[in-house]
Amino acid sequence: MEMRTKYKTLAIDSAYEILEQSIMFHNGKPIGTVAALNSEQLAAANYTECFVRDFIPSALVFLADGRTDIVKNFLETVLTLKTSRRLVAGHEIQPGVMPASFRVVTDENGTEQVQADFGERAIGRVAPVDSMMWWIILLNIYVQSTGDRELAMRKEFQDAMAQILYLCLKDSFEVSPALLVPDACTMIDRRMGIYGHPIEIQSLFYGVLRIIHSLYKAESEEDKSLLNTAIVREKALLNYVRIFYWLDLDRLNEIHRYTNEEFGIDSINILNIYPESIPNWVADWLPDEAGYLVGNVGASRMDFRYFALGNFLSIMFELTSDVQASRIMKLYELRWNNLIGAMPMKICYPAMEGLEWQVRTGSDPKNVPWSYQNGGNWPALLWPFVAAALKTGRGDLAERAVDTAVTRLVDNDWPEYYDGRAGKLIGRRSNFKQVWTATSLILSHKLLENPGLLKFLP
Ligand code: GLC
Repeated sequence: MEMRTKYKTLAIDSAYEILEQSIMFHNGKPIGTVAALNSEQLAAANYTECFVRDFIPSALVFLADGRTDIVKNFLETVLTLKTSRRLVAGHEIQPGVMPASFRVVTDENGTEQVQADFGERAIGRVAPVDSMMWWIILLNIYVQSTGDRELAMRKEFQDAMAQILYLCLKDSFEVSPALLVPDACTMIDRRMGIYGHPIEIQSLFYGVLRIIHSLYKAESEEDKSLLNTAIVREKALLNYVRIFYWLDLDRLNEIHRYTNEEFGIDSINILNIYPESIPNWVADWLPDEAGYLVGNVGASRMDFRYFALGNFLSIMFELTSDVQASRIMKLYELRWNNLIGAMPMKICYPAMEGLEWQVRTGSDPKNVPWSYQNGGNWPALLWPFVAAALKTGRGDLAERAVDTAVTRLVDNDWPEYYDGRAGKLIGRRSNFKQVWTATSLILSHKLLENPGLLKFLP
């Protein structure tokens, strides 16, 4: 036992060293953290940039340690970047969209500039949707934990929130309350067949809707009406996700016996899901007492894959009911080897193979089955698991997951991800000294020591 504590302290110290070295400065001010410390083995050039989503665990560690300045600087920096005009391939990116990442460059006069990437430099040219949502969620956590409401009340912050709300709530071709987005616009930023209504985006969207009325002043009539739309959407989204994304044995039985081609307002199978689309693995894999939110739902489409982050965030933001939350935790208890194995946490389950992998990923060699985003294991997902488990009263599972991670992360030099069904192999193209791998462990440890920190979440 003592040995284990000693090991944990060693790991946390080493993680802090990485965090310290990762801090990015602009004109002497700390404004963010890079994705991975620079080394010859970096998988892509932009890992030396600060990614909005990767900064979240860094920010939470800084806030818990009372280093609030860097978080404030980050929130301001991202805001400034947002307002600059962006043209990608001849069309302008919507105001409100926030960058995936940014870097500091020095021009020929020696002046430092912060340069954003809205996807126009990223592989595949994907614009992120999660950044703007994480930005609002982080702003709320910052306000809650520092009491500095003034920051959120500033005009430019209010304007940004209005633009984001407008972007997410404006009329579109949609008929459901879920948000329609393109593939690769989330933590999974390569083609993985998650276009449509991926659960990760729905849970972040819900997180934003849940807190927006406490942050957004809505002074004009137009603003008030925007806020009202947000409130209505919040409730509609909650009901929709709890019903249509939920899968347990009862629900699977229902879908298995669904009638199709129903017409009219009384139809039951309103999305016209064909029972034939249920993959064979589902019934064998899903334990009687467990359940989860499926990856994606749309017209005649249910993506039965399990995606970890969307499920964790749904529990954290109370998008799931209490019963659903505990059933998701039960899934971890009963399918530990599949979803955690040798390294927490499997990003999605199961991996796509063969023709499905070819068609849905475009034969992406980085996302081959059980690697990287196609069923790889990501230590960065440890902290949201710990938060979700603690919220559900399953601290035992949180401890077990942290113990599994701690012994290997330090020895393996903080890899970005692991490969294989059980996550036993260091990712083939994994970076080392990946910052959110390190901060995720620090944050998980902090949450276990002081679950009170959870109160700052939306
Ligand atoms: C990869 C991940 C993405 C992350 C980035 C930097 O592209 O898929 O989620 O933000 O690396 O770590």
